[in-house]
Amino acid sequence: MRAGERVAILTGGGDCPGINAVIRAVVKKATRERSLEVIGIEDGYEGLIENRHRPLAYDDVAGILTLGGTILGTSNTANPYSYAVKENGELLFKDRSSAVLRNVEELNISCLVCIGGDGTLSIASSLFQQGVPVVGIPKTIDNDLRGTDITFGFNTAVEIATEGIDRIHTTAQSHHRVMIVEVMGRDAGWIALNAGIAGGGDIILIPEIPFRIDSIARKVQERSKKGRRSSIIVVAEGARPKGGGTVTRRLVPESTDPVRLGGVGFVLGQQIEEVAGIETRTVVMGHLQRGGVPTAFDRTLATRLGTKAVDLIGNHQFGTMVGVKGDTLVSVPLSIAAGGVRVVPLDHPLIQSARSVGTCFGD
Ligand code: F6P
Repeated sequence: MRAGERVAILTGGGDCPGINAVIRAVVKKATRERSLEVIGIEDGYEGLIENRHRPLAYDDVAGILTLGGTILGTSNTANPYSYAVKENGELLFKDRSSAVLRNVEELNISCLVCIGGDGTLSIASSLFQQGVPVVGIPKTIDNDLRGTDITFGFNTAVEIATEGIDRIHTTAQSHHRVMIVEVMGRDAGWIALNAGIAGGGDIILIPEIPFRIDSIARKVQERSKKGRRSSIIVVAEGARPKGGGTVTRRLVPESTDPVRLGGVGFVLGQQIEEVAGIETRTVVMGHLQRGGVPTAFDRTLATRLGTKAVDLIGNHQFGTMVGVKGDTLVSVPLSIAAGGVRVVPLDHPLIQSARSVGTCFGD
């Protein structure tokens, strides 16, 4: 790519700690080392459809390394191929991809950098098929993207969830209760598994291993008989009973992925009281896991991913995203990230380790 060419950045889907660190890395390297011009698209694909953008110069990204959220704003409902509009009170979905293609051309964008999870990167992949030069950067607290070992934001979410579990231990012990901590992650159990182990959860429930209430009740009763009068259960929002379904917190009709999970902790709490006869309370970590300052790990990862993305831009490796493979960064076709979510494999070493120290998975 030649000096003076224009790169546009957008952030799509749910926000997560570290996005600003990525924006900063892309802008600093692109302007310093390649003399590219960078603009920021506001509110994800919505801003690309509505042509809302602003310049992102080197100085505009100073001081944002530790800032949570995204300075550009985001949307987890705006899909150019199925864009929700209200007409006479009726919700309709329209294909607005032609507006995106037109704006990319009129703005003279030589590369569109899409920072997002599977939804955002699937759209990026489709735009690439239609001729838009795109580079992706994987982002989600859920850590469920294919084509990368890890996403930035995940480490911070695990730290926050772990701190929550740590704090729950003392009150659980004081009152001899079962305490349930519900964490995010959609259909993948990465946050629950990692925070559950780090926080010393006695029972960890993840979507990949359907649970049985009698198995959970047996575990808390056994602990109680042994004199351990409190138990900690870490449950992923997508966990479900054997033969049953997930619990939905709300439906967002204007979203192409309308189901928002949440509430399984409360359902479980009631069942445990009924079956095991032990007083139970539930805490939902919720959006706390997405807020605030990114960990040192995520800031470093975000900086690595952002600067590597500029290499892909410079080499015209469009239609790819930056991925982490072991200790190295690789380029991965966007179609891989678009091909579905990466759940916890049942033979994952962390599951084995947890079982070895006596953790129950409710199976
Ligand atoms: O994908 C990130 C995530 O935080 C999920 O863990 C969670 O299920 C979802 O987003 C929540 O979405 P919203 O912010 O729309 O409630």
